[in-house]
Amino acid sequence: MKQSDYYAASREAAVYPHLRQAVDLVAANAGNIAVDVGCGAGRNTRFLLQRGFVVHAYDNNPEALEHTRALGNQPQLFTACSSFESFDYPQAALITASSSLFFCQAQHFDEAWRRIVQALRTGGIFCGHFMGPMDSWVQLERRDLSVHDRAQTEQLFDGFELLDLYEYNQPGKTLLGRSKHWHTYSVLARKTAQGLPASTGSLRR
Ligand SMILES: C[S@@+](CC[C@H](N)C(=O)[O-])C[C@H]1O[C@@H](n2cnc3c(N)ncnc32)[C@H](O)[C@@H]1O
Repeated sequence: MKQSDYYAASREAAVYPHLRQAVDLVAANAGNIAVDVGCGAGRNTRFLLQRGFVVHAYDNNPEALEHTRALGNQPQLFTACSSFESFDYPQAALITASSSLFFCQAQHFDEAWRRIVQALRTGGIFCGHFMGPMDSWVQLERRDLSVHDRAQTEQLFDGFELLDLYEYNQPGKTLLGRSKHWHTYSVLARKTAQGLPASTGSLRR
């Protein structure tokens, strides 16, 4: 089954560069609570635990959570089966959404994003991926994605210092080796204010 294969492959895959940077950028007074949004098999959770964070990891797929829980019965790890728009976030110093949040159905994205922004402490770091309009999954008219062009992605970060926005718009492969065109934005940003953007906007509603 595809999702099982994905989890097996992703468990040992490398932690993405913006998360490696993020752990060193969290403000000292923001605390050590991290949230792994759509944690999958837990590769990023494992990294955060190793770096001394208390990690709240959630996913809406029970199989993903089995993998993440198999990281061990650690007092610093909390897991939950939840969707993006209903997760009850703790106040967090770091929130990572690695290749996950673009799977949010567009009608739920504003609520999902509102919860993330509200949960992040001032001085805290967000890192994660957004999907651009040239991605082949978007071009194939998959209806289950949230899609943001560059301007819309930037607009999400009102009230943040945008530390880096890396656009990847090239043919590539999935973790399972299937060819596709990727169009993603990887973002690293520090929350500077309590304010929320009036409306996030996305290309699909
Ligand atoms: C491509 S995987 C990425 C997993 C992990 N973040 C990583 O980098 O290895 C996307 C994950 O998002 C989860 N997901 C998809 N839709 C979701 C939703 N509506 N709420 C919560 N998780 C969701 C999937 O179950 C899957 O585990």
